[in-house]
This record gives sequence, C-alpha cells and structure tokens, in this order.
Amino acid sequence: MRIGFFDSGIGGLTVLSEALKRLPNHEYLYYADTLHAPYGPKPKEEVRDYVLRAINFLVEEGAEMIVIACNTATSIAVAELRQMYDIPIIGMEPAVKPAIECVSNKDQRVLVTATPLTLKEEKLKKLIATLDIHHQTDLLPLADLVRFAESDQFSDEVILPYLKQALHDYDIQTYGAVVLGCTHFPLFRDSFKKIFSSEVQLIDGSKGTISHLEKLMLKQNAQISETPSVTFYRSGVKLESEKEIEPFLNILNRLGVE
Ligand code: DGL
Repeated sequence: MRIGFFDSGIGGLTVLSEALKRLPNHEYLYYADTLHAPYGPKPKEEVRDYVLRAINFLVEEGAEMIVIACNTATSIAVAELRQMYDIPIIGMEPAVKPAIECVSNKDQRVLVTATPLTLKEEKLKKLIATLDIHHQTDLLPLADLVRFAESDQFSDEVILPYLKQALHDYDIQTYGAVVLGCTHFPLFRDSFKKIFSSEVQLIDGSKGTISHLEKLMLKQNAQISETPSVTFYRSGVKLESEKEIEPFLNILNRLGVE
C-alpha cells in the first residue's frame, strides 16, 4: 500500500519511524513542508492553506491512506480533509488520555506541551474538558523546539536553557507525566529527561497513531508492496539526490530505523 505522511518538517519522522519498524513492507511518501515551517506560531488560515495543498499533493502522488503526523495541522484541518477525500486520513492529537491515565496519584499534574496553535485550538480544549475531570493539566507552548529541530540544533547547551526558561513559572516537582504534543518534541526526549525526574512519564502519540494505522490497514486488507520504499518531498518537490535525503535518513537512524 502507498501511505502518505505529512508534517511541517522533520517532526513527523518520529511517527514514520514507528511505521517503518512495525509495517516495513509498504511504499511511504513523506512530505515535509519545510518552506513554511514552523506552523505553530502562524495564523490558522495560513496553516490551513499549506496543509490542504500538501494533502492534495500526496493524494495526486497516489497515496491511498494519509497520516497527518503533525498535531498542529490535524487540529486545524483534519475535519475538513476528511470531508474532501474518500481515503482514510489519520490525524494526531496530544496524548492527553494516556498521560492522565498513567498518573495514578491524583495530586500529581500532567503537563501538556505543544505548539501555540495546537494549544489555542478548540479541538484540544474540548479534549481536555472531557478528560481532565480532576483539573490536573497545565499547558505549555514550546514553539522554539520546532525551530531548533529544523535547524539541526539538539545540543544540551541550546536546549536545556530554553526548556528551563520556558518552565520558569511551573513547579517541575508536581508533574507525573509530560505530553509531548508536537511530533518534533520526541526528538528532544533526552533533554526532557534531564529536566524532569526519572519517574516522570514522557508521552507522545506516535505508537498509538501507528497502532491505529495498522488496524485500518488490516480492515482494508492492505497489500504489502513488492518494492517497499520511502520517497521524501520538501514542500511539493521530490528529493532525488543522496545529499537532499541524508538529513531525513540521519533522523530516522537516530530513531532506530536501519
Ligand atoms: N510537528 C508539528 C506538530 O506536531 C508542528 C510543528 C510546527 O511546524 O510548528 O504540531
């Protein structure tokens, strides 16, 4: 089966890496809208146009299923996209449910990190209103992590001061779980681990999303491909040379994909 993955940049590779580990025998198309990243600080209407354009491109390239591996794009456009296309479109939302479930002590809090746009959207507000019956969640926008990832800045010297500053007004000791509600954030898992105690669960939605994809594929009786592959695109341009593809492969490698 041909499956389209979409993100504003390299963040969606944290989700694609799970797919490649669990469902390797398919043709993946990975679209990074790097020309317009980051989405998080941009107005909703602008992001909507980018997302619609990207998904249309993937459908024209023959995608039979789409994974929007971006929480921000999902919150802005998934409902509209599902009305536009007949193929299954899987979205992502910050993994608030498993985070609340894993905090057994109701005095502990859950920190939901995401882009400013995801945190502002109705979709997340509704999700939290439904799930957070003990009022345990706090929200924290971390827009610059996307910028850092896109410019290949992962060093502790850059990331730790940024996270400490962002958390300045939060009582770190009170958290039992942190939701990594943007697909770029798991790339900074090691830095988060240095800020929070080892008991704090760092939860992202990539495994759940790929379980969902797997179920849908079973239901649709998806055929494996004779020629499994990953094709990369940057804002509508197919990447052909090794040099262009290398940054994507390096990240996948770091995420444990051979
Ligand atoms: N990776 C994206 C997400 O999950 C968006 C990052 C951005 O472009 O701001 O929200």
